[in-house]
Amino acid sequence: MFDRLPAYAEDPILGLFEAFKADPRDRKINLGIGIYCDEEGCVPVLASVRAAQAAGAGLQGPSTYLPTEGGEAYRRAVRELVFGEADAADIVVVQTVAGTGALKAGADLLKALQPDAAVWMPDPTWANHAAIFGGAGLRVERYPYYDKATGGFDLAGALATLRKLPAGSVVLLHPCCHNPTGVDPSQAEWHALLDAIGERGLLPFFDMAYQGFAQGVDEDAWAVRECVLRGVACLVASSFSKIFSLYGERVGALSVHAPAADKARLLGQIKRVIRRSYSCPPAQGAALVEAVLSNPAWNAQWRGELDGMRRRLRTMRIRLHGLLAEALPQKDFGFLTAQNGMFSHSGLRPSQIEALRTRFGVYLVASGRLCVAGLNDANLDHVSTALAEVCAGEVGP
Ligand code: LMR
Repeated sequence: MFDRLPAYAEDPILGLFEAFKADPRDRKINLGIGIYCDEEGCVPVLASVRAAQAAGAGLQGPSTYLPTEGGEAYRRAVRELVFGEADAADIVVVQTVAGTGALKAGADLLKALQPDAAVWMPDPTWANHAAIFGGAGLRVERYPYYDKATGGFDLAGALATLRKLPAGSVVLLHPCCHNPTGVDPSQAEWHALLDAIGERGLLPFFDMAYQGFAQGVDEDAWAVRECVLRGVACLVASSFSKIFSLYGERVGALSVHAPAADKARLLGQIKRVIRRSYSCPPAQGAALVEAVLSNPAWNAQWRGELDGMRRRLRTMRIRLHGLLAEALPQKDFGFLTAQNGMFSHSGLRPSQIEALRTRFGVYLVASGRLCVAGLNDANLDHVSTALAEVCAGEVGP
């Protein structure tokens, strides 16, 4: 067996991050992996998180096992964050190993309960989605999402596919800050999607890794909360890596809104898949998130910090757009300001992406995804010069 090991084609995002770190050049700019950096180019330690830590939140004494589903207070705090005021009776929340762990637990749950269900994901989507759901043994299919012609959301294409699906099909959705394109449906488009989902009896699975990075904490959860108002069952994977800047702590949650379910049994089925996967979640990061969310002063402070991150992303989009519009007035870079969150779909070709990396030390994911959160005052000119150079003479993005 060990003589015949297949080679691992490095992950397009994590592999690129390693290549970036190994690049010896002084001038290198990471617009690849989805990590929010501040104006100084550093991963921030949020003041709200630091305050909770200083006040003693997190691991102080002996380290024992958390319950398989995570602690009660953490689960309550997450439920309020994701669902707002919604009636708790129909919702089960469990702590998971970040957003990826939530997707995996949800995928294992679906495989156990409905082994033949297909998961329909947007085209394109986060590179790891197909691997997670396919790896759990579920059939992976795609529905149209990004319209290359308009650079916007392909509502007609998405609806045409969803309206043909058999009841019980799972539909993967990004409630905000679509990864990798940054293209989000409008509220009217969400209504049309949720109408089709309701009519066909489909099961939405929301991947919410950026709650608060598009419009605001509550606004970004709108589609999830609308499902609850409509009585539509759904799953939600939450990640707190980005919005609490706790990447290494692996903090997240899987929530299931299931009006028809026996909640104790549903919790039991989720615990079953987690127990046989990683048994129970890590404690430290979740204790910090729980403390910040549960303390009104820290919660308000955190929301303010999140607003600041969101505003910075927007400013960087506007400034890069301005510089590129000036450098190449014949090309349309409007996608930068029209899209939301950390990512933009640049539409650049592989040869242009390669040139950005080799000639300018500017790293973008090979798909053309550009992480706006890596831009700052100090590197904006260099990035716009590099982009203008590789775009000059091309049929623009
Ligand atoms: C990303 O999309 O860059 C992040 O979610 C990091 C990852 O794990 O891929």
